[in-house]
Amino acid sequence: MADKIRVMIPEEDITKRIGEIAEQINKDYAGADNVVLICILKGSVFVTTELAKRITVPVTLDFMSVSSYEGGTESTGRVRIIKDLDDSIEGKNVIIIEDIIDSGRTLRNLLDMLSSRKPASLKLLALLDKPSRRVVEVPVDYTGFEIPDEFVVGFGMDYDQRYRNLPFIGVVEN
Ligand code: IMP
Ligand code: MG
Repeated sequence: MADKIRVMIPEEDITKRIGEIAEQINKDYAGADNVVLICILKGSVFVTTELAKRITVPVTLDFMSVSSYEGGTESTGRVRIIKDLDDSIEGKNVIIIEDIIDSGRTLRNLLDMLSSRKPASLKLLALLDKPSRRVVEVPVDYTGFEIPDEFVVGFGMDYDQRYRNLPFIGVVEN
């Protein structure tokens, strides 16, 4: 039987908020060269495309895939590169785009990994933040929404690889 999904954040609220963040980025990076949006696959694909469409400063896109959750709902704390960036980020103004920050381990690891590659600047964007779950401190520069400690799906996020294609953010109710 299909799972019941309760809507937590409707599509129009998500795209409106992403539009606000894009405006902020357009201001923050006005006149900046070499801005790279790094989409962390697969969860950040939807937020990356919605954001990129609204960015007016010149940007390039690159993609990276790391392992975080392995089938379940708890972070392992281990980050393994499954697909690395195509291009060097040395001297570039990098914005890492994540779908959600939970314990903070994934972003902390990514931040350490990518800052060692000597970008000119490095900022973090997370569509969702579950602050009550934080184990590791991470400086998030752009946050879409703070949410309570519930496991969410949709707008790129999955439960065992399902539900990424939902246009809204929801909670699976069994
Ligand atoms: P962290 O390392 O604990 O911060 O976990 C971050 C990663 O775990 C995200 O990039 C997601 O892939 C996954 N994740 C954390 N919470 C959720 C959730 O509620 N739904 C779907 N994926 C989640
Ligand atoms: Mg992820």
